[in-house]
Amino acid sequence: CGIVGYTGKNNSVEILLDSLSGLEYRGYDSAGISIFVNQDITTIKSVGRLERLRNRIEKLYPNLYSTCGIGHTRWATHGKPSDTNAHPHTTEKLSLIHNGIIENYQAIRKDLYDKGYEFVSETDTEVAVKLIDSLYTGNPIRTLFDIQKKLEGSYAFAMIFADHPGQIYAMRNSSTLICAKNEEGSFLSSDMPAILKYTQTYTLINEFEVVCLGSDQITIYTSEKETRNPEWQTAKWTMEQAKKGGFDHFMLKEIFEQPQVLSDTIHPRIIDGFPSFTQDGINDNFWLHFNRISIVACGTALHAGMVGKAIIEKLSHIPVECDIASEFRYRNPIMTKNTLVIVISQSGETLDTLAAVRLAKLRGLPTLAIVNVPGSSISREADYTIYTYAGPEISVASTKAYSVQLSIMYLVAMKLAMTTGTRSFEEIRTLSKGLLEAAEASQQVLKLKEEAKFCAQQFAKIKDLFFFGRGLDYSLSLEGSLKMKEISYIHCEAYAAGEMKHGTIALIAPDVPVVAVCTQEFLLSKMIGNIKEVQSRGANVLLITKEGMEIDPELYNHRIDLPALDDIFMPLVGVIVLQLLAYYSAVIRDLDVDKPRNLAKSVTVE
Ligand code: G6P
Repeated sequence: CGIVGYTGKNNSVEILLDSLSGLEYRGYDSAGISIFVNQDITTIKSVGRLERLRNRIEKLYPNLYSTCGIGHTRWATHGKPSDTNAHPHTTEKLSLIHNGIIENYQAIRKDLYDKGYEFVSETDTEVAVKLIDSLYTGNPIRTLFDIQKKLEGSYAFAMIFADHPGQIYAMRNSSTLICAKNEEGSFLSSDMPAILKYTQTYTLINEFEVVCLGSDQITIYTSEKETRNPEWQTAKWTMEQAKKGGFDHFMLKEIFEQPQVLSDTIHPRIIDGFPSFTQDGINDNFWLHFNRISIVACGTALHAGMVGKAIIEKLSHIPVECDIASEFRYRNPIMTKNTLVIVISQSGETLDTLAAVRLAKLRGLPTLAIVNVPGSSISREADYTIYTYAGPEISVASTKAYSVQLSIMYLVAMKLAMTTGTRSFEEIRTLSKGLLEAAEASQQVLKLKEEAKFCAQQFAKIKDLFFFGRGLDYSLSLEGSLKMKEISYIHCEAYAAGEMKHGTIALIAPDVPVVAVCTQEFLLSKMIGNIKEVQSRGANVLLITKEGMEIDPELYNHRIDLPALDDIFMPLVGVIVLQLLAYYSAVIRDLDVDKPRNLAKSVTVE
C-alpha cells in the first residue's frame, strides 16, 4: 500500500492524486483521500485504479480545494477490493490510512464491539481507526503512543483529526514513512520518488516515532516521546528517471536501461582490475571471516540470489544456502558463528526479507544487504549495505534491478574467491574483465528485441508454457517464467531440465511450448538429451543459447543466439531476452504491462 500526505499553501487534492500515481506500484486495488474542506473532513474513495478516484472527484466534486489531506493506494490484504474496504477509514473524530497488517485486530474488534462500536468493512484498518477514536481525548500524540502498546503487527499510519485542521499525524513500525518539505508545505510519503516532483529534501521516520506535520513545521517525537531534530537529506534520484522517456511502458524503458545501470553499478567497484567494496564502507578484512553464507530474498531478488549461490560456491568454495525469506524465518535456520547473511531486495522494504535481517541480527550474525532504494528499511537495519545503482524501478515486474543484483553477486563471489585464495589474482582480474564485458554485451542483446517479439507472437494463443535449463540456466528459467506469468498471465512452470522426466514430462504433448535455456557449454550434451526428450513428444521448442553452440536444428522450432560469453556470465545477457519475451507476450495480449493484476511492487506485509 502507498501513503501520502500534504499540508501547505497549495491545493492538496492535486498533490495527493499526483503523488499517489507515483505510489500505485505498491498496490492498485483501490484508492482514496481525506481532506479538510472548510475545516471539515471530506473523504472520497473508489475501488479500482487511481484513475477511477480521479474521475469520481472530477464528477462529484469539481473544483475541490483543500490545503491539507492524506491519500492512499491499496493492495488488499484483509477484505476484498471494494469501495467500503478502501482507505481512508473514518469516524467523526478522525480519518486514517494504513499500510501493513494489524495481527491482533480480531481481539481489538471484539473489545470495541462490546463497547458499542459497529464495523462496516472487513479491514484491520477500520479496527485501528476505531481504537484511536475510543481513546482520543484531544491529544493526538498521546493517543498514538498509547495505541502502540495495544497493536501487534506492522503498520505505517497517517491520519487527520477533525479538531486539528491543517495538521497530519503519522506513526510507523516496520512499514516505511518519510517526511519531506519545500517552501510551500510539508509532505508525508511511503517513498521519495512519489514526491520528487515537489521536493528533494526529505527525512526518514524511525520505528515507533510519531510525527506531526504542519504546513511549515514537522515535529518528530522519538519512541521516548521526546522531540528530535529531523536529519534532512537530499534525494539523488531525479524526476526524469521516474518518467517513461518515450518508451511505451516503464518495463521496456527499464529493460533498455540495463547496459547503463550495470555499468554504473559495476565500474565504481572494480578498482585496478579487482573487485572492491571500499566505497560501500566494507574493507577487505570483512570478507575473511566467513565459512558459510546464507542468502535470503523474495521473488526476482531470490532468483538473483540463486545465481549468487552458484557462483559464490563455484568461485570461492564457501557453502551457500539460498532461502525464500518467508520460509527462512519460520524454519529455525541453522546459522553457525561464521555465517554471513546476505539479503537482496530492490525496494529494501519487503517485510519478509526485513524479518530475515532481524532474525540474523538476533542470532548475532553479520548482515549484508544488497538494496536499490536509498534509505529503505532493510538498508537501515542491515549492518552493511551495497547499493545497486539501478535508479527508480517503476514497473512492477522487476528487470533492471535483477541485473544489477546479479552484478553485485558476481563481485561478491570474486571478492570472496580473492580473499579465501581459491582463485589466483590473475584469474580474478580475468573475471573482473569478463564482468565488464558482459555488461557491455547486454547492449547487443537489446538488438534481439524484434526476435523476441516474433517469438512472443508465436506464443500469442498459448495458455501454458514451460521453461527449462540446467545449472545457472535453471535459475534463469525460474526468472524467465516468473516474468512471463507476472505480466502475461500465461501459466508457466520452470524446471531443472534433468528433473522434467520425473513427472512433469507427462504434460508435454504435441505443440506444447517449451523454452529451452541452454547457455552452459559444459552442460550442452546433457541439455541436448533433455531437449530431445520433450521434442520427441511433440513440444514446440524455443531454444535460447549462445553463438557457436552446435545444436541440431531438428531439435528446435526457433533459435535465439546470445553473445558468446564465458558460461558464468551468461545469466546477465540471457535474462534480457527472457524479459523481452515476457514483455511482448503481455503487449500482444493487450495487458497492463506496468501494473499487472493482483501484484504490488513492494510487499510490506508477511
Ligand atoms: C514483490 C514484487 C516482485 C519482487 C518481490 C521482492 O512480490 O512484485 O517483483 O521481486 O516483491 O521485492 P524486493 O523489493 O524485496 O526485491
